[in-house]
Amino acid sequence: MRILSGIQPTGRFHWGNYFGAIRQYIDLQNGRDTAFYFIANLHALTTVRVKDQLVQNTLDAALDLLALGLDPNRATLFVQSDVPEISELCWILMTTTPMGLLERCHAYKDKKARGLTADAGLFTYPVLMAADILLYDSELVPVGEDQVQHVEVCRDIAGAFNHSFGEVFVLPKAYVVKDTAKVPGLDGSKMSKSYGNAVDVFEEIKTQRKKIMSIVTDSRPLEEPKNPEGDHLFELYSLFASSEQTKSLAETYRRGGFGYGSVKKELAVLAETYFAEARAKREELAAQPAKIREILAEGAKKARQKASEVLLRTQQACGLK
Ligand code: ADP
Ligand code: TRP
Repeated sequence: MRILSGIQPTGRFHWGNYFGAIRQYIDLQNGRDTAFYFIANLHALTTVRVKDQLVQNTLDAALDLLALGLDPNRATLFVQSDVPEISELCWILMTTTPMGLLERCHAYKDKKARGLTADAGLFTYPVLMAADILLYDSELVPVGEDQVQHVEVCRDIAGAFNHSFGEVFVLPKAYVVKDTAKVPGLDGSKMSKSYGNAVDVFEEIKTQRKKIMSIVTDSRPLEEPKNPEGDHLFELYSLFASSEQTKSLAETYRRGGFGYGSVKKELAVLAETYFAEARAKREELAAQPAKIREILAEGAKKARQKASEVLLRTQQACGLK
């Protein structure tokens, strides 16, 4: 079964990206022929408009993914724009994609609702994402909750094309881990780099601690019992803690008589320990840029083999070849 996912190099990855998506990439990597992961730099162009920043972000994304456990022997890692077949497939798909389908997509709808002007790139973003998925006959797409709509749209786009030209595309399914599909941020709303409420995975320890201590909590008195359910500090704690630790904190909440400050301090220590190995590995990899470039070049070569096969099948089906 082909597994595929992409992640945009729009900034450094945060806990939401890790628990919502990257951890699943790692768990599902089962061979270079079947697990494909890529850095979506063409998508990032809809927001990053500084050349050097995009270059740096792309390298950072590769380093982060590899440090977090993506293994080039068990998965194919590549940069989206290194597979030029994607652009042709994207165009072909655009010719059969209904406008209404794209008008309903949240990224575009939200921007319009805020009175901002959207580029055609943002509007057609889901078609490029569909092309990403369909170009490799992907069956399973690990993502966080906010991307599920895009995977559904991909199915609709594939269905519309298949309806006109025959069974060309495989219909993919989103793979979502319910417990971590929507990791909360410091303020309790969804963690996102655009909300300024994120803790980055490789954030400097001092900054990370400060951020954790700033997690918004209520002002109920120390002794009052509290409900752990729906409490975002508790939710963040349970991402890093063992099940015994989580159970014990739930009991403490229900009993009352504790301060949120002590929970935050514990969370900071747990998070540091959790990513300590990855941090060390990242430093090691950052000193070997040639090796990273080689991994990405190898990945692109592998990805292009599959991409050219699917593109040819598509071109033949619609009369381009
Ligand atoms: P951001 O919202 O910070 O811009 P992206 O949209 O680049 O993040 O998301 C990259 C991946 O991480 C996607 O698969 C997305 O679903 C997942 N993701 C992002 N934020 C969260 C979150 N708070 N909880 C769970 N998954 C998330
Ligand atoms: N749109 C995704 C995001 O913002 C990134 C992405 C691009 C993607 N192409 C993809 C995810 C294909 C899964 C499959 O997170």
